[in-house]
Amino acid sequence: MNMSDPGLAETLVQALRRPDGSTDLRPVHSVGIGASGSFAASHVAANYCTATHFQGGQIPVSLRFSNGSGCAVAHDGWSDVRGMATRFHLPDGAATDLIAMTLPEFFAPTPETFLDFARAAAPAPFKTWSPWQKIRALLKLTIPMRDPYPGETIRPDEGAMRFADQNGYAQLGVFQAATIGAPESYVRASYHAVHTFIITAPDGTRRWVRFTWQPIAGVLNTNPLETPRDEYLQQELRQRLAKEPARFSLMMTIGETGDALDDPTRPWPPHRIRVMMGLLTIDRVAEDQITDSEKLSFNPCLLTDGIEASDDPILQIRKDVYETSSRLRDATPCPFAGG
Ligand code: HEM
Repeated sequence: MNMSDPGLAETLVQALRRPDGSTDLRPVHSVGIGASGSFAASHVAANYCTATHFQGGQIPVSLRFSNGSGCAVAHDGWSDVRGMATRFHLPDGAATDLIAMTLPEFFAPTPETFLDFARAAAPAPFKTWSPWQKIRALLKLTIPMRDPYPGETIRPDEGAMRFADQNGYAQLGVFQAATIGAPESYVRASYHAVHTFIITAPDGTRRWVRFTWQPIAGVLNTNPLETPRDEYLQQELRQRLAKEPARFSLMMTIGETGDALDDPTRPWPPHRIRVMMGLLTIDRVAEDQITDSEKLSFNPCLLTDGIEASDDPILQIRKDVYETSSRLRDATPCPFAGG
């Protein structure tokens, strides 16, 4: 099934734009940094998947780490989702992408419901809660709205919360996003590809799987009680990689009968089998941040033989959404541009 709809894709891109964003940048994940390194498959990876990058050897990769917000100015210390987009450069000259974020589940199960969500959660002027409102929320065992960060005038939180109150599928994503915090480093966070993909083993067995990057350095957030710093993540990455590489393991969770195979809002039970598929080593920040970050276009549907997209309608529409967004911001053409 293919849910591609260029009209809806463009509507989604426009609905995501923020008043403090820039049409020259991505409408979300606007601030980011490009890097590069290599991926080495684990010894068992080839038993599960025939894709070239799981067969062994060192596969060169390009990456982009990002802040989830569509604000054009870096606010690294603000609580926000972070992104990690990875392109594997395959030996035959082709490529495949894996786009992941720090949120394990998404806000909506279909493009139409995500459009409703995006419109409801459009950033609005900040309303600071009075002490009484906060106490009342705590007495009701709910989390009070936080105070604005220095310089924060608009935010999507109230609209997102109201939407989640009325639409159960959004609750997990909204709750996790509201409490996610800020990482000490882009390489000290776990990143989830969220959707289900179908992989094929050498004996033809097809498995429904989800991928996650786990940082070898461990997960660490900043102290939420301290005043957030606006810009530190890019400098931290530069300084870290100048001293030593950063590493992530690629973990693959195998779904079972009854798991949500085409719904990115629903988690799988925690006791599913997990397989270590390989080790990513990031050794340098890209020299040309315009070409290798700002103008780069990733696409979650850029797959390769051995890995297929599931019927998840959000994954399906993302093919056109990312292509449209790439065109609108005049980026290096998306891999699907032109057909
Ligand atoms: C229908 C749902 C979604 C829409 C409409 C959407 C929209 C977008 C758009 C327009 C961009 C900018 C693309 C570009 O200009 O190159 C983007 C980037 C991104 N999105 Fe999504 N997105 C959706 C779902 C997701 C999901 C489920 C994830 C979780 C993995 C995700 C993670 C990211 C990341 C990490 C980036 C930054 C990629 C980069 O660095 O180039 N998005 N998204």
